[in-house]
Order: sequence, then C-alpha cells, then structure tokens
Amino acid sequence: MRLGKAPRPDSLDPIEKASRDEISALQTRRLAAILAHAYENLAAYRKKFDEAGVHPRDFVSLEDLRKFPFTSKADLRDNYPFGLFAVPRAQIARIHASSGTTGKPTVVGYTKADLDVWAALMARSMRASGARPGMLVHVAYGYGLFTGGLGAHAGAEKLGCGVVPMSGGMTERQVQLIHDFRPDVIMVTPSYMLAILDEFRRAGIDPRSSSLEIGIFGAEPWTNSMRAEIEDEFDMHAVDIYGLSEVMGPGVANECFETKDGLHIWEDHFFPEVIDPSTGEVLPDGHKGELVFTSLTKEAMPVIRYRTRDLTRLMPGTARSMRRMEKITGRSDDMMILRGVNVFPTQIEEELLKVETLAAHYQIVLTREGRLDEMEILVEARPHAASEEERVHASRRLQDSVKNFVGVTAKVTVAPPGAVERSFGKAKRVVDKRVASSE
Ligand code: DLL
Repeated sequence: MRLGKAPRPDSLDPIEKASRDEISALQTRRLAAILAHAYENLAAYRKKFDEAGVHPRDFVSLEDLRKFPFTSKADLRDNYPFGLFAVPRAQIARIHASSGTTGKPTVVGYTKADLDVWAALMARSMRASGARPGMLVHVAYGYGLFTGGLGAHAGAEKLGCGVVPMSGGMTERQVQLIHDFRPDVIMVTPSYMLAILDEFRRAGIDPRSSSLEIGIFGAEPWTNSMRAEIEDEFDMHAVDIYGLSEVMGPGVANECFETKDGLHIWEDHFFPEVIDPSTGEVLPDGHKGELVFTSLTKEAMPVIRYRTRDLTRLMPGTARSMRRMEKITGRSDDMMILRGVNVFPTQIEEELLKVETLAAHYQIVLTREGRLDEMEILVEARPHAASEEERVHASRRLQDSVKNFVGVTAKVTVAPPGAVERSFGKAKRVVDKRVASSE
C-alpha cells in the first residue's frame, strides 16, 4: 500500500485535537440548546418531555441527559412524513428516506446549515480514512433517497477531491471506469466491494494492480476478517464509516486509517450513550449495549436519545481525542436466537473467512421444523476450489467451527461461485422463513 502517514495535526479541525474537558464543555452547551429547540418547536417532543416530567431547564450537566425520554423509529413513523421537522417546510433544503423492510419509509429533513455540517463531517471522515484534497473518489453508494451516495459526494467535494458519481449497480461498468479513470478512493458497501472484486477477476484484471488506495466501507456490519480479505485482494486500506439517516447519514463516526482501532464518534455534533437494551439503563464506557445518539446541532430534525438498535461499546479516544465505538457486531434486529443461543451474522462471517476455500458471499436461512429452529448457511466456494470434493470438505469445516466457536448446529451448503444473490447496496444476510413455515 502506497498511502502516506497520518494527517498533519494542522490539517485537522481544532476540535479533533481538543481536550476531553473542552469537548464536554461544548457538548453541555450544545445539549442545553438542542433540548430547548426540540421542546419549543416540536409538539411530539414537548408531549414526551411533559409526560416524563422533565423540562430542558432540568439539564445542567451531561449526566442530566439520562432524565430525558428515548426516541425510536416508532416516533418517526408516528409522525410521518414531516411531523418531526422543527423548522418551517420552506427551510427544508433536502429530504432523504430509508425504506426499511416493512411499512412507511423513515423520512428525514435537512436545512441548508445541516447539509453544510454533514458535508464537513463527511470531509472529516474521509480525511480520517486517508483521503486528501486532489484525490479522485469513486462513489458507488446508491444515489437518491438513500443517504450514502449524496452524503459521500458532498463530503468528497468539500474535502477538495474529484468525484465520480457512479452510484450502485452496473458492476461491469464499475470495473471498467475504475480501470480507466484510476480513482484513488472508493466508497461503497463492503458486500458490494466483493461483487466488484469478482468482476475484476472475470474481466481478467488484477485487482492488486488497480489505482485504488483507500476504500471507505459502511452502511452494513462487516468484520475485521472481511477487512483483511479486501485489503489483501486489492492492496488497499479498508476503513469503516458509520452513520444512520435518522441521526444524519454517513459520517457520524469513522475510523482513522493509521490505527483502525474502532470508529471515532464526531462528538462535537453527536452525543453518544450506550444503554442496556432491556432496561434502558445507561452503561459505563467499555460495556457493550445499544448505541443511543442525541444530535447536538441539527436544525431541521433534532433527535433526542435516539435508539439506534446497533450494538457496540464506547472506548476512549486514540488517534483523535473524541471517543471511539467498537466496530458494530450487529443490530439487535439481526440477532438470531437458535435454541437459546444468540447469534449474529458477523459471527458466521468470522468463521467462514477462516476457511480458505470459501468466499465471503453468504446468506443465512432460518426455518422451523416442528418446534425447532434450523439454520442453514448458504455460502460460495472460491473459484479455485469449486470441485464437489472440496465443497464437501469446506462445508464440514465450517459446520465444525460454527458448532465449536458460535455454539450452534447449522446446516452448511457450499454452492458454486456466483450462486448467492448479490446486492448493489446493503447485503441481505438473513432470510427468515420461520413465520411463513409456521403459519
Ligand atoms: O446506511 C448511512 C451510511 C451510508 C453509513 C453509507 C455508512 C455508509 P441507513 O440506511 O439509515 O443509513 O442505515 C443505518 O446501517 O443503524 C446500522 O445498522 C447500519 N450501518 C451503517 N453503517 C454501519 C457500519 C446508512 N459501518 C444503519 N457498520 C445503522 C455496521 C452500519 N453497521
């Protein structure tokens, strides 16, 4: 990998180097203001605060935030489409939405100032990932209502990079343009990066000879084993970016490429808490639980103690003074309970990448036989190891390691290369057929 060192300290935003006390003081000021903004301009928050018997003036120090009620996706749905916009409609400069799996989409809005903050935080995230002004950035996150494409685009421009606004899909074309335009940076979901990798091979182009030096991957959980796979195949840095539409979009937290030790949360704009998902109790830093965010500066759609359902722990700052969150293991929604054992798709990913003959294209199918839940792992053989014999051997190895290290018995089907459905954005890792089969 050809990339240079960490950014020079004078190229960072001052807050990236600030002391903990400075960060806390800024957060306290901003929290007081945002609680008042939500209370004064949004009936839904006023009602929730009143019902909980709290008022923004009860907030004096950071610990006081825990007196305030949580917000969840249900609040967004109940106020569909614009009921949580705290500014007049005419001040809304952009709307994004995420489809989710069922029902109404989750709608979010931004003022012009919100879009500026978002672009600045995306630029900060990209700089942390190793991107520098003058680089060319291939954006393969989807453009449109999804926040990935336009969010990455604005950040790249803000940092002073050139942008190829490719969006997702048309995999052959992606590879052709990467080959011809020679971008330095790619921004895409990690699962779609693997589809791009397959296409490099199919086209007879050595991925290690590509111009790409940095990949900024997020929008779905992915493991350090997946990172190793991508870094090795492309001879590039693979860096993790996190965000969610309700809180802003991509760029809420990002890894630093020189440390890759978890994602620094941009705490000057988002206040993180980790809670016990069953009791709502705030956990001390270092304990794993559900991540909760309060936006500190958003005008159009402030969110107070928004429950993300993402599971992680908070850790002290390293390459930046702002706290880190551990790479996300999964969402509480993705947790499968098999005969009493909790299983996340990332645990299966970890095991299957230990088997050299298996590719990282996989799906987990849940069915119910009588009263018992069954798990089938559908995974692909790598092209060089696709004989019947090798597939049977790989299937046994994966079955054993899932049994030994994850603690569940799974049926493993190793399919020929190309058999597992590809997605152009977020991969669908779990296919749950249990409801249908028990009806
Ligand atoms: O996925 C925003 C985004 C776009 C992030 C591009 C990064 C890159 P939503 O569609 O609202 O927004 O989905 C948000 O995706 O709550 C997590 O469950 C998951 N997610 C996002 N980034 C990561 C990540 C975008 N780095 C939901 N690791 C979040 C694990 C992630 N999960």
